[in-house]
Amino acid sequence: MKYLRNIDFKNKRVLIRADFNVPVENGIIGDDSRIRATLPTIEFILKQPKSKIVIISHLGRPDGKVNPEFSLKPVAEKLKELLGRKIIFIDDIASEKGGKIARNLTDGEAAIAENIRFHAEEEKNNEEFAMNICRHFGVFVNDAFSVSHRAHATTAQIPRFKPSCAGFLMEKEIKELSRALKPAQRPSLAVIGGAKIETKLPVIENLAKIYDVVLVGGKISVEAKEKNMKFSQNVILPEDFSDGNFDIGSKTIGKYVMAISAASFIVWNGPMGKFEDAEFRKGTDAIYEAIVNADAWKIAGGGESVEYINSQKGADKFNFVSSGGGAMLEFLSGKKLPGIEALE
Ligand code: 3PG
Repeated sequence: MKYLRNIDFKNKRVLIRADFNVPVENGIIGDDSRIRATLPTIEFILKQPKSKIVIISHLGRPDGKVNPEFSLKPVAEKLKELLGRKIIFIDDIASEKGGKIARNLTDGEAAIAENIRFHAEEEKNNEEFAMNICRHFGVFVNDAFSVSHRAHATTAQIPRFKPSCAGFLMEKEIKELSRALKPAQRPSLAVIGGAKIETKLPVIENLAKIYDVVLVGGKISVEAKEKNMKFSQNVILPEDFSDGNFDIGSKTIGKYVMAISAASFIVWNGPMGKFEDAEFRKGTDAIYEAIVNADAWKIAGGGESVEYINSQKGADKFNFVSSGGGAMLEFLSGKKLPGIEALE
């Protein structure tokens, strides 16, 4: 795989795939951490003499249709504010007009294109669509780790046609999550919670082969117990739950906190209960406190865990917080991610 330092961006028109899939309500961006996380890559490329960039991203799931609700215009505004420079907005990078704007960018100019998922070809992983977009550029940079589990035109196809490399965020995600697949410190412990059992089971099964202990909580643990699912011995399910099974119970909290305190390498994905409800956040609160206080290498990720960590202003207390939700889970399941494979 090539990285930013392996490519000469001087004089180049660069296409950057970012994941700016951020929460937007009435045109206002909630958590902008995914945008901030891509800034080092953007700034690095723009510092190279005579380079110019166009950023592409998706936002939400507009199902291949133009829908203003999913426009990247608020992201363009935010980017302008964060970078402190003009950002040109391209309505449709796949159109002749959009291509012309890209080709006419002057040295040092930056543009962002409208939501790539307004085209159905994106999610259909369409080869011609990918070729049509990337033909205007000399180099492709993929910094969108969090969508690399999707085999889409701009993640899996473009690197087949253009010299490509991983951006700083992609590079860091791969490095840190690879570390999570080979924990160097023992005892190693994984805490897996959340609600979607079909996405979490492969992670639990894979991490059980690697980690000393895997603690399971959240709705998935209720379901695992109800269905009498069988796991290897090092996978621990809760002994008790709160009223209504919306959180892990006090005995389980005590046991989990003790195990976490003794661990030297911890990976955490998914809350222990319905933490958005004050009544059912004791488990997640206790697990979080135990993790941040443990003398361990700490990695966390997943949409809800990151939301929780940010609500506690706790990101700095971890060695690494992944920007990936589904992508992190697939990576930890040991699967090959199409967006990463394409760069290889
Ligand atoms: C995410 O938010 O996890 C990524 O942007 C992928 O989005 P998707 O699940 O809609 O493909």
